[in-house]
Amino acid sequence: MPSDSPPPTADASPPIGRLELVEYPHPALARPARALAQIDDELCDAVEQMFEIMYAANGIGLAATQVALPYRLFVVNVEGRRDAGEELVFVNPVLSRPRGVAVQEEGCLSLPGLRMDVRRPERVCVEAWSLDGAPFRMDLDGLLARVVQHEYDHLEGRLFTDRLPDAAALEARRMLDSFREVFHGRQSRGELPTTAAMLERLAHLEAARCVPATGSA
Ligand code: NI
Repeated sequence: MPSDSPPPTADASPPIGRLELVEYPHPALARPARALAQIDDELCDAVEQMFEIMYAANGIGLAATQVALPYRLFVVNVEGRRDAGEELVFVNPVLSRPRGVAVQEEGCLSLPGLRMDVRRPERVCVEAWSLDGAPFRMDLDGLLARVVQHEYDHLEGRLFTDRLPDAAALEARRMLDSFREVFHGRQSRGELPTTAAMLERLAHLEAARCVPATGSA
């Protein structure tokens, strides 16, 4: 191969482009996101889009997996408005020191219309990197602790419906079934890409910015 050839992965990395909220059961929501190895301009633009999408949907938190980006990244603003509160970006977050128990109703932009009581630790610590690569640590309680844990679950491929007690899980199951029917209907009408195409894009986006998977982990 001549030395001036582009690296073999250059054409395999699709640009992030315009992002959209994805709903259950999009495959991006079901698989663990991968740690980011680099933050580039395109990713910063993606974070900007994520805040816009979150505000437009009246959300207070949004994980990258909810816009079909397979990255360990989420954004939060508990005020839910551009002109209020603080815009927080968590890159490669790690949670620790869960304490206490709290039950509070949650919803999710990827499960529109579904709201249920969810039990979680009341307080938790989070360590993460900001978008400019600075590490930070926060000791959280209240709404911020809840939102951060909800968004962190997204990075693990989990939804709040995975945390419900049996009776509530049964009720949620019916809603999830109808979400699945709508999703597959949209796919069969060509309004959404095929699941194979979605998975292919996720793999390309991972290859472009993530730490390569090692060993059998
Ligand atoms: Ni959610």
